[in-house]
Amino acid sequence: MSTKTNSALSELGRRTSAPPISWLMRIKLERPKLVSLAAGFTDNDSLPLAGSRRLMNELLRDRALGQAALQYGSTAGDDALIERTAGRIAELDGAPAGQATGLSKRLVITHGSQQFLYLLTEALCDRGDIVLVEDPTYFVYLGIMQSRGLAGRGVRMNRDGIDLDHLEQVLESLRRSGELKRVKMLYLVSYYQNPTGRSTGFAVKRGAIELLRKYERAAGHPIYLLEDAAYRELRFAGEPAPSALSVGGVAERVIYSGTYSKPFATGVRVGFGVLPEALLEPVLRIKANHDFGTSHLIQQLVLKALESGEFVKNLKKVQARYRAKAGAMTAAIKEFFPSSVEWEKPEGGLNVWAGLPRSTNTGMKSGFFRRALEQDVLYVPGNLCYADDATRRKPSHEMRLSFGAAPEADIRRGIRRLGRVIGKN
Ligand SMILES: Cc1ncc(COP(=O)(O)O)c(C=O)c1O
Repeated sequence: MSTKTNSALSELGRRTSAPPISWLMRIKLERPKLVSLAAGFTDNDSLPLAGSRRLMNELLRDRALGQAALQYGSTAGDDALIERTAGRIAELDGAPAGQATGLSKRLVITHGSQQFLYLLTEALCDRGDIVLVEDPTYFVYLGIMQSRGLAGRGVRMNRDGIDLDHLEQVLESLRRSGELKRVKMLYLVSYYQNPTGRSTGFAVKRGAIELLRKYERAAGHPIYLLEDAAYRELRFAGEPAPSALSVGGVAERVIYSGTYSKPFATGVRVGFGVLPEALLEPVLRIKANHDFGTSHLIQQLVLKALESGEFVKNLKKVQARYRAKAGAMTAAIKEFFPSSVEWEKPEGGLNVWAGLPRSTNTGMKSGFFRRALEQDVLYVPGNLCYADDATRRKPSHEMRLSFGAAPEADIRRGIRRLGRVIGKN
């Protein structure tokens, strides 16, 4: 029975539309000749196959460890993995090794960071609530918002993250229209953003938190900053920046989301979140209803990878692979794209964001997209990455080009084909 005719469905079941990522991933599987610079997968060759096999063997050879790993765990996650994860965040934030930060008391391990984003949104937002997002943002998060009936307001971006002046304008206009009480958080993908590859500077994070606080009184409740650091460890150039957790005195307003998917293996589906104390219990209760705990076995694998040094060893390999692939993509762009295309060289992450002249429509129903498919190349149309926000027009002249999954030769081939489509436009 199609979902359209099934009157037994809940409001949410009826409302949730098909995420474009499913289609983008399926079409690649259906058309093997297609070079996908679109979505989903990461680099196969740097997946930690041998290391994971060895660690799994070690784990399951030991009777006590093996039995514990194959048993249910707790809702919040394995204590040792929580400690290690807290330690790693502190290290990335520049805290001296071993210094207690208190993060572990506010940390939950989830089924990928995607589950954390979902749980958190469920805990904070009712239908009709508003989430402020970057323009553009991670399009799968827009899917969560669509499904939960939330409205988005886009905040423009500069090279170093969101435009704080525009954030203030948006907050002020929401205050004037009386909608501020519906605003629950600002969602930032702060490192090597998906889709633009840009990172948010520390000063911008601090400025954003200050602005959110300024408008809290009118909102009548806290307005949180949700920092999604999914790509933080995929840095292959430039300097690292501290997270919003390092902005002093604001622990009760910052939510931090991270993952072991990108730096280790996407298939492990282990992510995590750090929450203000007031949100921890509600999120844990909802998680208990979802699954009462992330796969205990896979948490043990990730823990062993961290303890044994396999994680860091593999991370170096992953970073080197993406450095090379990003280089292959940007070299091909220089060679095959006309100078009218605007793009930025990424310092980490998996994506290059390219802007064509504004007269070119790159959307899924456009002639440009069709011609790209005829040339056997796929990209993510930029307009999918913008929230539905009636206060501005959605740009539709951009594309997200991912160097994550395709091998270097395919990256070059794909960019050459796209260059041909752009040339004929
Ligand atoms: C910005 C961002 N956040 C979160 C996720 C979710 O990743 P995972 O559930 O594998 O941790 C992704 C995946 O692509 C992402 O791009």
